[in-house]
Amino acid sequence: MKIKVTSGDITAIKAGAIIVNTFEDKKAPEGELARIDRLLDGSISRMMKGEIKGKLSEITMIHTLGKLPAQRVVVTGLGKEKELTQERVRRAMGETLHYLKNKGVGTLASLNHGAGAAKINPGAAAQAVTEGALLGSYSFREHLTKKNKDGEIKELAIVTADPSELAVLKKSLRRGRILAEATNLARDMVNEPANYMTPVHMADIAARLANDYQLELTVLEKAQIRKLGMGCLLGVNQGSVQPPKFIVLNYYGRKSNKIDIALVGKGITFDSGGISIKPSEGMGEMKGDMAGGASVLAAIGAIAQLKPRVNVVAMVPATENMPDASAIKPGDVLTAMNGKTIEIISTDAEGRLILADALCYANKLKVKRIIDVATLTGACYIALGDVTTGAFGNNQELIDRLLSAAAEAGEYTWQMPMYQEYKEQNMSGIADLKNAGGRYGGAITAAQFLAEFVGQTPWVHMDIAGTSMTDKEHGYQSKGATGVPVRTLVNLALSLA
Ligand code: BES
Ligand code: MN
Ligand code: ZN
Repeated sequence: MKIKVTSGDITAIKAGAIIVNTFEDKKAPEGELARIDRLLDGSISRMMKGEIKGKLSEITMIHTLGKLPAQRVVVTGLGKEKELTQERVRRAMGETLHYLKNKGVGTLASLNHGAGAAKINPGAAAQAVTEGALLGSYSFREHLTKKNKDGEIKELAIVTADPSELAVLKKSLRRGRILAEATNLARDMVNEPANYMTPVHMADIAARLANDYQLELTVLEKAQIRKLGMGCLLGVNQGSVQPPKFIVLNYYGRKSNKIDIALVGKGITFDSGGISIKPSEGMGEMKGDMAGGASVLAAIGAIAQLKPRVNVVAMVPATENMPDASAIKPGDVLTAMNGKTIEIISTDAEGRLILADALCYANKLKVKRIIDVATLTGACYIALGDVTTGAFGNNQELIDRLLSAAAEAGEYTWQMPMYQEYKEQNMSGIADLKNAGGRYGGAITAAQFLAEFVGQTPWVHMDIAGTSMTDKEHGYQSKGATGVPVRTLVNLALSLA
C-alpha cells in the first residue's frame, strides 16, 4: 500500500472509500461528518440515533450511491474524545483496515484522525494513522499458491484541510512508514516456517539490510564462534544439522567508534527443547523462537533509515535447538565465552545459554548499554499473558528510558523485580551456574542468569515469550507474529541521539 498526504476537502475526493470519524457521546455529526451527512440526505444523523455509537474501533460503512465522489464512507469510532491517544488512533485505523481487507475497495482517503477535535499534534496523528494502516493491513501469504491480490488496498491518502501542515505530515508519514515496515519485516521473519527461516536465512536477511541501508555486517561462522570460546552457542547447536551463525550489524550515526547501545536478540530458529523435548502440542509455535533476533535486525534497519546521531550494534546468536545423538544432555557442563561454567539442567533452557555468549561478546565491544530481547520463558507468558512484555534490568535510568520508548510505541511493557535473592536458584554444586532455577519465579531467575554475563554495563532484558505472537486479531495486530518490540527499540535509539 502506497501512502501519501494531500491537502483539500476529503468530501471532494474520489476513492473507493473515505475514512472519517466520530466520538462516543456525540449526538449529531460535526465537522466533515456534518457535511457528508448533508450530502447523504441526513443518513448519518439518523444512524447516530442508534447504530453509530462512536465507541473505539466501531466501524460503519455506508455506500454513497453517487452522492459523493467517493464510493463509500467509513465512519470509525474513536471512543471518548478526551481519552484519545496516538495508540488509540493506531488501533482504530488498524481495525478499519482489517475491516476493509478483501472488500475490493482499492483506494482510500482518510482524515488525519485525532488532529482535529481531540487536539493530538498533527505529526503524531499522521504517524499513528500510517502505522495503524500498514500494521493493520499486514498478512502473511508467503506460502499460499493462490496469492489473490484482488482485494488489496493499493493507496491511502491522508487528507488535511490545512496545506501549511503538509511538510510536517510528510515527515511523520515517513517515520510511521519506516517503523511499520520494520515491524512487518520482523513479523514476516517470525511467521516464516523454520525450514525456511534457518540461521543461514537470518544471516541472508541481515546481509540484505546491510546492503539496503549501508550497515556494516559481520557473520561469525562456526570456526570463529569456536575460536571466540562461545561454548554455550556451540553446545546448543551441536544437535542440529544447520550451522550456527553469529550475526552482527553496525550502524554508525556519529563520528566515534564508541557504541551507544547494543541490541541483542535470541535467534533460536526452532526450539524443539532438545533432549529435554517439548510436548508435541503447540511445538510448531517454536518456529517463532527467533523473534528477539528478528526484532533487533528489523530495528537496526529502521534506525539506519532514520539516521539518529547514535552508534548502534545489533547481534543475533542464531541456531536451532534439536535432539540428536550428538545433542547436549541434561547433566552436561558448558563453558561460556567469559569462562563461566554452566551445568545443563534442561536442554530446553537454551535461550539463556546462547544469550550468555552474546552478552559476553557485547561486553568485549565495550558498549555503553545493552538491551536484549528474547522469547525466553513460559513463566513470563504465565505471569503477563500475551498482553505485556516483561522488562528486567540493572539500571533504573535505562529501564525508565526503555519504558517510555515502549509507551510511545503502544507496546505494553512492565518492569519485573530483580532482587538478589533470586540468584540462589541458579547455583549449581557442579559448575558456576545451572541453566534452570526451578518453577517459581522462572522469568526472573532466567533474567538473573543473564545478569551474570552482563557485569556492570547498564542493561535491560525484555522477555517477549508472551507478546511475540497472538492468536487474536485485534487493533493493528493480526493472528501470528506481532513484531513486538521493534518500535520500542527504534524509539529508544532515537531517544539517545
Ligand atoms: N522458547 C522457550 C520459551 C517460550 C515458551 C517462548 C512459550 C514462547 C512461548 C524457552 O526456550 C523455554 O523452553 N524455556 C523453558 C525454560 C525452563 C526449561 C527453565 C520454559 O519456559 O519452560
Ligand atoms: Mn527452550
Ligand atoms: Zn527457546
